[in-house]
Amino acid sequence: MTNDSKPTPTGLALLGCGTVGTGVLRLLQHKDGLKVRAIAVSDVHKDRGAEVDSDLVGEDIDSIIQRDDVSIVVEVMGGIEPARTAIRNALNSGKHVVTANKALLAQHGAELFACAHKNGVELMFEAAVAGGIPVVRALRESLTGDRVEGFHGIINGTSNFVLTQMSEFGATFDDAVAEAQALGYAEADPAADVDGHDAAQKLQLLMYLGFGLSLEQQVRDIRGIRALTPLDFRHSEAFGYRVKPLAVARRNADGVAAWVGPALVPMGHMLANIGGVYNACFLHSEGLGALLLSGRGAGMMPTAVSVVGDIIECARKQRGTKGRAPMEGTVRSEVLANMDERQRIFYLRFTVVDEPGVLGRLASSLGSFGVSIERLVQEEPGGKEHTEIVVLTHLTKQTALKAALNDIDASDFTLAETLWLPVEDPDS
Ligand SMILES: NC(=O)c1ccc[n+]([C@@H]2O[C@H](COP(=O)([O-])OP(=O)(O)OC[C@H]3O[C@@H](n4cnc5c(N)ncnc54)[C@H](OP(=O)(O)O)[C@@H]3O)[C@@H](O)[C@H]2O)c1
Repeated sequence: MTNDSKPTPTGLALLGCGTVGTGVLRLLQHKDGLKVRAIAVSDVHKDRGAEVDSDLVGEDIDSIIQRDDVSIVVEVMGGIEPARTAIRNALNSGKHVVTANKALLAQHGAELFACAHKNGVELMFEAAVAGGIPVVRALRESLTGDRVEGFHGIINGTSNFVLTQMSEFGATFDDAVAEAQALGYAEADPAADVDGHDAAQKLQLLMYLGFGLSLEQQVRDIRGIRALTPLDFRHSEAFGYRVKPLAVARRNADGVAAWVGPALVPMGHMLANIGGVYNACFLHSEGLGALLLSGRGAGMMPTAVSVVGDIIECARKQRGTKGRAPMEGTVRSEVLANMDERQRIFYLRFTVVDEPGVLGRLASSLGSFGVSIERLVQEEPGGKEHTEIVVLTHLTKQTALKAALNDIDASDFTLAETLWLPVEDPDS
């Protein structure tokens, strides 16, 4: 305990400080109770900006791992060695490990998970499958009481971006890959992504979690997206399908059928509408039925979110924290906003008498309360004595809208309470 009786922060060692590592450091700035004690990189002389404390940076991975003030090791170097040895040493030293390294786990996961088990520590890897999407947590925790029947994933953002460009804009494969590279969505050598191997590694981890399939059984049916041409998209769409880069695993009577490759998905299916660099996992389980998780499957901050989530889970375990309540000190910092003061667009349906002048009175009443009209449609009365007028407003405060509707609903030309619905765009 320190002098002011706050608990001693949990010490972290970061192995790697590239894209993901930098994102992790950025998120940790706002997390109390966790402290990075040391950072391993391959080039200590590289300029890493103000975000990285240069006093923490070193090259000797093993001495960083063995520090007494480090209890969680975060491996975000990538590659097989020295990551494999570093993780094994950390686990054997009784440290929890968080990694984002799907290639390593797909190849050597069996050995490393056994090592974690033997030492009674965690080896966590949420970021290794679908970056920021909490699919590992869903399989490991939320669905653990159910029986997973299968999953269909779009788990390689590069391939999904390339196929979306080809299908929506008629781009060729080479042009779409070049654009993905220019936007930072594809590596200089895109082979692991576009040939399906990255998705296969992630599928392996999903099957390990979902079905308990040994990591030693490698997915064999892997196809990439290089052979597709704009013609394939045109014809698939004419047949009612969209071409998507899938990773699929289903329980069958004779075992788990697993494959990776582009496939035709019915246009109306949720997965058909996952475009660009977005990832998605469509899980099927006996009790729950279908569950779709979708979001950003790569990139600095989405991946770092998953890594830091795992770090916090390890820290809680290490401190013996029980339960799921929010962390101390975070509960009272938010307040409910006053909805009346929020500016929104509203849809209004007025039921009014079908008489000349009503439209003008309606518009002027709205205007007098500061509610301006973006679109207005009057329904044909069709022989009835009343008519319905539908309005879309410009941005307006709910207080102004309610005052206007009180006035209008009390008037002699209104026949029923006006219906109002806010416009809510989840992406804005
Ligand atoms: N980027 C993503 O969107 C993403 C998404 C999901 C998962 N991942 C996984 O996250 C891991 C890291 O990816 P990244 O994109 O952050 O990689 P990156 O930008 O290339 O960073 C790698 C870091 O590791 C350090 N490093 C490499 N070899 C080392 C060695 N032998 N000893 C010490 N340090 C070494 C590098 O040091 P220097 O800085 O000195 O070069 C660098 O700081 C990979 O396993 C990747 O598959 C990444």
